[in-house]
Amino acid sequence: MSALLPVFRGEVSRAPWRAEVVAPRAVRLSVTDRCDMACVYCRPAGSETWVSPRDRLDVDAWTSLVAALTAGGIRRVRITGGEPLLYRDLVHLVERLATLGLDDLALTTNGARLGSMARSLRAAGLRRVNVSLDSLDAPTFARMTRGGDLTRVRRGLDAACAAGFDEVKTNTVVLRGENDGELDAITQHVWSRGATPRFLELMGVGEGRVLGEGARVSSAAQRAALAHLLDDGDGAREAERGPAVYLRARDGSGRRVGFIAGATETFCEGCDRLRVTSDGVLRSCLARTSGVAVGAVLREGAEGDALRAAMRVAWSDKPDGAWRGCTEESAASVSMRATGG
Ligand code: GTP
Ligand code: 5AD
Repeated sequence: MSALLPVFRGEVSRAPWRAEVVAPRAVRLSVTDRCDMACVYCRPAGSETWVSPRDRLDVDAWTSLVAALTAGGIRRVRITGGEPLLYRDLVHLVERLATLGLDDLALTTNGARLGSMARSLRAAGLRRVNVSLDSLDAPTFARMTRGGDLTRVRRGLDAACAAGFDEVKTNTVVLRGENDGELDAITQHVWSRGATPRFLELMGVGEGRVLGEGARVSSAAQRAALAHLLDDGDGAREAERGPAVYLRARDGSGRRVGFIAGATETFCEGCDRLRVTSDGVLRSCLARTSGVAVGAVLREGAEGDALRAAMRVAWSDKPDGAWRGCTEESAASVSMRATGG
């Protein structure tokens, strides 16, 4: 029986339960920490350590875990990485998760492999896709992603837009002196595909901290650069979605642009998210590395009760609303590709 008890990984400090969110409602699954790009704000240029293939969760393990989390109140699942399209059984995983009666099943990708996979992912039951698109200029794109091929990503985005997903959005991390002159062009390109562009502040997570504040363009400056296209006002977040705030197009077309201010704002109050690393560590916060490891017990065929207990322990570590998100010191030691953003 003791094998079924959650194993602590890292330091789990006891934060008070937050009155406003007593249980997680959403989970982000980092199905692999591997990525075929090395974006400057995400992955270090030098040597890195990876989760051993032996420790990665397989489709059965992910399905058991998500089924247990669902019974514990989770309603929304987003598959992330690393690059999730590198997870060999991704389509099968989506098929299995789609049978669990979730309110949402979404994926975040660098888009390079979507050209060949978008249709099968849609057919398997994936509902929404977010694609990273840092530049429309091939040399800038290659520099920001350290080798990414813009042509493939554009093809991937087009394939996603043609595949009939409920929603396709893009993510552009705006870096001073790199892509900060492209906000208009990216917006028009993404709108013309029927998708929704979003612009992100550089967050001080892992490599983002290394790049430093000088590289950041604030959401306020990003909005100013697009003011000619967008309605005035503060914009609004969407219910049951992530931290983006959306402004509508001035032209009344109903098109929107989203902004994610992960550095100048925190989204901690009301955060209902849990994260799982590719080796099965449940983490309560993007800006911290502590968590509860369930990979071993999953491999031994853990029962739902043990997994739900692990979820409650992980959630009890959730910082309260006074926490300053990705501006906290602990965010510097987080690996984005391990946590899945
Ligand atoms: P939807 O709004 O549901 O479409 O998804 P999302 O925006 O939450 O997902 P996505 O994976 O596209 O994330 C976009 C950016 O938001 C990434 O940089 C994430 O790291 C960041 N992000 C997502 N959740 C949080 C959060 O809880 N806190 C912070 N600071 N950033 C987050
Ligand atoms: N700051 C802001 N966004 C980041 N992402 C990865 N690292 C950072 C960072 N340091 C974004 C990527 C991807 C999403 C999952 O996270 O652009 O679209």
